[in-house]
Amino acid sequence: MALRRPSGRDSMAAVRSDGPHPASSLAPVFDRAWAELAPIGRDPLTGGYDRSAWTTVDGELRAWFRAQAGTRGLRVEADRNGNQWAWWGTPGPGAIVTGSHLDSVPGGGAYDGPLGVVSAFLAIDDLRERGITPVRPIAVVQFADEEGARFGVSCVGSRLMTGLLTPDGARGLRDADGITVAEAMDAAGVPPERIGRDDMALARIGAFVELHIEQGRALADLAAPIAIASGIWPHGRWRLTFHGTADHAGTTRLADRHDPMLPFAATVLAARREAERAGGLATFGKVVASPGAANAIGSGVEAWLDARAPDEGALAGLVQAIVAAAHEEGAPHGVCVAVVGESHTAAVTFDGPLRIRLQALLGDAPVLATGAGHDAGILAGAVPSAMLFVRNPTGVSHSPAEHADRADCLAGVLALADLLANLAC
Ligand code: GLV
Ligand code: MN
Ligand code: MN
Repeated sequence: MALRRPSGRDSMAAVRSDGPHPASSLAPVFDRAWAELAPIGRDPLTGGYDRSAWTTVDGELRAWFRAQAGTRGLRVEADRNGNQWAWWGTPGPGAIVTGSHLDSVPGGGAYDGPLGVVSAFLAIDDLRERGITPVRPIAVVQFADEEGARFGVSCVGSRLMTGLLTPDGARGLRDADGITVAEAMDAAGVPPERIGRDDMALARIGAFVELHIEQGRALADLAAPIAIASGIWPHGRWRLTFHGTADHAGTTRLADRHDPMLPFAATVLAARREAERAGGLATFGKVVASPGAANAIGSGVEAWLDARAPDEGALAGLVQAIVAAAHEEGAPHGVCVAVVGESHTAAVTFDGPLRIRLQALLGDAPVLATGAGHDAGILAGAVPSAMLFVRNPTGVSHSPAEHADRADCLAGVLALADLLANLAC
């Protein structure tokens, strides 16, 4: 079988010597899929997406997935954990699986997740157009609740499938309105009593590859459209609660206050300082002040720390330093701080042989590590896994400004199709 070798440089990849540009027939299909997804969960004012798990919007995305599978004659199913699968061939061991997720962070971009799912369907179209009949089954997967935007823990669908999250641990997670994962899944028609490690689903996967928009500017700086992932930094989320005392903003003397906002603010600055020292990243992106009155000193501040670092030692040191700062800053104000680890994802190194295969197919495509979490990182502990990144000209992600040029997206589809052909034939 002839492989098209996308160059890692700006030649835009995948030029067929024996006919028209292979991406040209995929472009209208890409545009159609993108246009169908565009309005789902989009805020007309900001252009950002709110696609949290097990909401009505999520239901529309799941229906879109079924329709995409249906038009291609792929057999569609949801597994016990609510992950959706579309099968080309009979589901079974040794399958080559590709896909990503469709949910988003609040105010998220269009590409983080959906690009991997759309590309997976288009890669199948490309293989069919080339007359390729895979020997192994190929599946497109859409993992449930990757972002963890609603219930706090990321990659719930893949963590459950691989046993990294227990069924009870998942079922009891609550959203901001107190609704549990179990209740939300139930309302969406997915029986929560069946969730948990799914050895049958895992046993079918021969290899998993996730294509994703790059969430940084490395490819833009290298003038390359596609990269191969080497690994993912260890990372996690910690909830810090600063317990103070509510009081009147207009009458309480400064010396008498137990204001939780002050040590919280100092902790945010400490996080930045410590991240610089550790060569890592630390972010407080979500804060809830209680009771939340403009004219009252708060009784509490709940804040979520997202921390990431190149290795486990650096991550542990970073979090320890930030937590120590929180306690230290709280003490003079009579504010005590409680810390709960909500999730941890270990360092990931993607499968060596798969990476070598990708390098052989993609020529001089750069190899990058990332600080962003992915379902492929969760699966990497259980099955051979790999990732491809598509250039993001600004590097902006988790924002309405997230973007990838169509030409690069189509180069990604072709690279993915080549890998599927290489693995499944
Ligand atoms: C997922 O996008 C993450 O890195 O948190
Ligand atoms: Mn994301
Ligand atoms: Mn993602």
